[in-house]
Amino acid sequence: SQKWILMATARAPTNIAVIKYWGKRDENLILPINDSISITLDPDHLSATTTVAVSPSFEKDRMWLNGKEIPLSGGRYQNCLRELRSRAGDFEDEKRGIQIKKEGWNKLHFHIASYNNFPTAAGLASSAAGFACLVFSLAKLMNVKEELGQLSAIARQGSGSACRSLYGGFVKWTMGNEMSGRDSKAVQLANETHWEDLIIIVAVVSSRQKETSSTSGMRESVETSSLIQHRAKVVVPSRILQMEEAIRNRNFSSFARLTCADSNQFHAVCLDTSPPIFYMNDTSHRIINLVERWNRHEETLQVAYTFDAGPNAVLIAPNRKVASSLLQRLLFYFPPGPDYELNSYVLGDKTILQE
Ligand code: PMV
Repeated sequence: SQKWILMATARAPTNIAVIKYWGKRDENLILPINDSISITLDPDHLSATTTVAVSPSFEKDRMWLNGKEIPLSGGRYQNCLRELRSRAGDFEDEKRGIQIKKEGWNKLHFHIASYNNFPTAAGLASSAAGFACLVFSLAKLMNVKEELGQLSAIARQGSGSACRSLYGGFVKWTMGNEMSGRDSKAVQLANETHWEDLIIIVAVVSSRQKETSSTSGMRESVETSSLIQHRAKVVVPSRILQMEEAIRNRNFSSFARLTCADSNQFHAVCLDTSPPIFYMNDTSHRIINLVERWNRHEETLQVAYTFDAGPNAVLIAPNRKVASSLLQRLLFYFPPGPDYELNSYVLGDKTILQE
């Protein structure tokens, strides 16, 4: 009997979109209707760590998330696994007498254990880091010889936003136009040292699970909102260009203006959906007000805000000085309570293999 086991461990950070992805043109392949841009956060505080193992003694693919077994039967996991298996390479370890041919991977099964180093109460989606990490670690284990861009196109099939977590710093997901989705992948715009003064503060307004998942929310928006078409065809293409320029020039005022406007338009699309989707709550709106009032009093914009499919505020400050002033204001107007918490982060590096 063959008693061996091979393992690989990777760590992937989470990311926050500043130009949002909302709406798919192909639900199975997860192809978006517009490009998006995100910042990758510091993996020391916000990341997934995944260990994948393969052994002839494993009888089926299994996965544990934060120690609890979860089903791998979902189409998204299956799509990622199938894509990776079809690109697997030969593997040989002479010392241990292990030899796996390309085709051999189809008969082997995986055990996958993934952990998030942040609690759900961090108020941030974990699927982006999770799928980026799963795809990266399995690709290394199976000796998949593809560049990072192609791995990001595979991670995209797990969760759209996951394709952006394979790179550090500032990342663009280009929607692509091929039917196969090969060109719908992430590219790095600048690494995490390009604009390292930025500080990201997450105000956890509520750690309650969102009521409308991004998958069904997007579907309803695409089916019922007319604003979403205008957004995808007219607004986002020009914003993407402006955002790339703002990042290139480290122009915070422009970066903040575009980030806030894009978050607001994404939530306007949600409101334009029938029935309307409300992701933000009263506290979210009050935080927007606080930032808008502060920005209006200064010559240049001080802080950017952005909200994903939930009420938690992600606030971006240009430097430590403004970040500490922002924290003081937030603590004053929104004193932390049982359902409210403040956390701060910096930009981070790409997905890496851990030895
Ligand atoms: O990849 P998903 O299905 O988690 O969708 C993410 C959607 C937003 O977070 C709202 C926007 C984005 O670009 O990340």
